[in-house]
Amino acid sequence: MTITAKTVFIPGATSGIGLALALRLKDAGNTVVIGGRRTEVLASLAASHGFATVAIDTADPASVLAARDQLVAEHPSLDVLIAMAGIMAPENLLDPASAFLEIAEREVNTNILGPLRLVSAFLPQLASRPDATLMTVSSGLAHVPLAFTPTYNGTKAFIHRFTESIRLQLAGTSVTVVELVPPAVQTELTPGQSTREGYLDLDAFADEVMALWEADPAAPEILVERVKFLRFAEVEGRFDATVAALNAH
Ligand SMILES: NC(=O)c1ccc[n+]([C@@H]2O[C@H](COP(=O)([O-])OP(=O)(O)OC[C@H]3O[C@@H](n4cnc5c(N)ncnc54)[C@H](OP(=O)(O)O)[C@@H]3O)[C@@H](O)[C@H]2O)c1
Repeated sequence: MTITAKTVFIPGATSGIGLALALRLKDAGNTVVIGGRRTEVLASLAASHGFATVAIDTADPASVLAARDQLVAEHPSLDVLIAMAGIMAPENLLDPASAFLEIAEREVNTNILGPLRLVSAFLPQLASRPDATLMTVSSGLAHVPLAFTPTYNGTKAFIHRFTESIRLQLAGTSVTVVELVPPAVQTELTPGQSTREGYLDLDAFADEVMALWEADPAAPEILVERVKFLRFAEVEGRFDATVAALNAH
């Protein structure tokens, strides 16, 4: 099956995974609206690829509601939301000069409250469509912690359990709830990550995601091969060894 003729909004598609999926979804015949804070990047991607765009800061409740109002007015057929926007930064609790609490609050606002605002704002629109999809974006780090990023790991664990929970509430509605669980991918999520050795190539990741999603659009989770090492560490009885391996460097 091909995911086509849908109207997709991806807040968090000015770069990285969101942009890679936006390009593939557009090529597959979907109407794709990309969102983000960097309006100059949105304008340039609209000019080069023909995307519709909406400026949105998911850390700002008023911005989310304004974006929703604009989208529903301009794209009443909107039936897929991919809550992609996220940030990640290292934290050092032992360094009094580090901005631990500031980083933690920013990540909670963007990675937890952002998706909650999006779900609250867009669910009525999605539920009004005959066949809609709500995709959340967690991480392999929801399942195995990376020592450098405690709050980030926690925000993604929240997304995992929240997604499982709303899937239960929305069972029997027209909204399919899908969780994308990326492994470490070469993007600009953290400085230098786009060329970091051992991280999955962005295009290879996006191609695998599209193949999995198209093969089973109702699958609860999209799990590329590389993330299964983290996703199933605990259930396969190798949690401690996987924590040690992940944090070895
Ligand atoms: N790359 C990985 O290794 C990896 C692994 C697991 C999970 N993930 C998750 O995948 C998602 C995408 O990350 P990425 O790796 O593609 O990183 P990225 O290239 O930095 O992309 C992040 C996107 O989120 C947007 N964004 C950030 N804060 C925002 C806000 N407050 N409001 C609206 N948009 C915001 C950015 O756009 P603007 O700057 O224009 O606002 C950008 O388009 C994130 O949720 C991340 O946690 C990534």
